[in-house]
Amino acid sequence: MEEHLTVGRVAELAGVTVRTLHHYDDIGLLQPSARTVAGYRAYSADDVERLREVLAYRRLGFGLREIADLVDDPATDAVAHLRRLRGLLLEQRDHAAAMVTAIDRELQARAMGIRTTPEEQLKMFGAQLYDAIGSAYPATRRTEPRIAARIWDALGDARTVLNVGAGTGSYEPPDRDVTAVEPSAVMRAQRPAGAAPCVAAAAESLPFEDQSFDAAMAVSTVHHWPDPVAGLREMKRVARRVVVFTYDADNTGWRERFWLTRDYLPEFAGLLVGWPSLADLTRAIGGRAEPVPIPWDCADGFFEAHWRRPEAYLDEHVRRAVSVWTRVGPQAEQRAVGKLRGDLSSGRWAERNRDLTGLDAAELGLRLLIA
Ligand SMILES: C[S@@+](CC[C@H](N)C(=O)[O-])C[C@H]1O[C@@H](n2cnc3c(N)ncnc32)[C@H](O)[C@@H]1O
Repeated sequence: MEEHLTVGRVAELAGVTVRTLHHYDDIGLLQPSARTVAGYRAYSADDVERLREVLAYRRLGFGLREIADLVDDPATDAVAHLRRLRGLLLEQRDHAAAMVTAIDRELQARAMGIRTTPEEQLKMFGAQLYDAIGSAYPATRRTEPRIAARIWDALGDARTVLNVGAGTGSYEPPDRDVTAVEPSAVMRAQRPAGAAPCVAAAAESLPFEDQSFDAAMAVSTVHHWPDPVAGLREMKRVARRVVVFTYDADNTGWRERFWLTRDYLPEFAGLLVGWPSLADLTRAIGGRAEPVPIPWDCADGFFEAHWRRPEAYLDEHVRRAVSVWTRVGPQAEQRAVGKLRGDLSSGRWAERNRDLTGLDAAELGLRLLIA
C-alpha cells in the first residue's frame, strides 16, 4: 500500500473535502484503483495525476461532465493536458490582469472625485470589452448555417476538434469537444460565455502533441497567418483530419467576376501578392479543395458575403468587420465606397449586374480544403 495515498491524505493535499472525493468516485470521474485492508479508498500516483487534471479543469470553470470527457480522452496524455491547462490558465491570468487594470483605473478616477459611467464600469467584463475597441466583428460576423453544415460534415466523426484562429468561435460545432486557439486577446475577450476553452497561441506553433485531436479546423483565418503553409502543416501534425475554409487566390477568374473587386476595389489584388497558391495550401495538408458557393443571403458578413446586396458595403459596420477594407487603406476604401454609392443611386450598378438578381448562390473563389 505504500505507493498509495489514503482518501483523507489526498483530500488534505488537494484542499478538497473527503466528501468531494467520494462524490467523484460515485459518479465515476475518479475511482481510486485500490482499497486498504480496512476497505478505505487508496489512490495511486495515476489516480492523483487524474485528480490534478480534474481539479485544474474544475478551477477553470468546466462542468463535471465536460471534465469527464476531457480526462477520459485517450488521445490526450498527461503532457497534452498540462499544455492545454497551461494555455487556459495563462489566458485567465491575462483576463484577470485586464480586470485589475480596469479596477485600478476606476479607483483612481473615484479618488479624484470622477464617477465612471455605467458603460465604463462594464468594460472590464468580456462582452462589453469589445465595445471599447470597436464592436466591429460580432456586429456582422456570425455563423452561416449552410457553410457550417459543410464544415461540420467535413469533420466527419471527429470527437475532439481544434479550431485554429477561432475568433469568436462562429463555426465551432456544438456537439463535439472543441479546443480553440486564438492569438488575439481582443478576439479571445469577445468569445461568448460558455464558448469552448481557448488557448492563446498562433497556428504556426501549436502547443499540442502530435495527433492529439481527431480534427483541426480553420475558418476565414489562414490569410491572416504570417506563414500559412507552416500553420497548415502544424494543423496536420496535431490532428488526423484537417478542414480549412479559405479562398483561391491564384485563380483570377472570380476576382473578375466579383463586381466589388473588378469595378471598385482593384487594390484587393495587391493584398494577394505573395500569397501561396491553392495548390500549395492543399499540398501542405495533403488534401483536396471543394468550391463553396456563397448564398445570396449569407449570414456571416465576410468580404464576399454581400455580393447580391451591394448597399451593405456602404455601411461602415459591415466594412469594419472585414480586414480587407483596413488593409487597402482609407483612400482606396473611400474611393470605392464613393463610386459604389454613385453607381447605386444612378442605377449603373443594377444595369451592370442584372444577371445577379436571379442567382441564389455565387462562386466567388471560396474553398473548403479537406484532408
Ligand atoms: C476573420 S477572423 C476569423 C475568426 C473565426 N475563425 C470565424 O470564422 O469567425 C481571423 C482570425 O485569425 C486570427 N489569427 C491571426 N493570425 C493568426 C495566426 N498566426 N494563427 C492563428 N490565428 C490567427 C485573428 O486573430 C482572427 O481572430
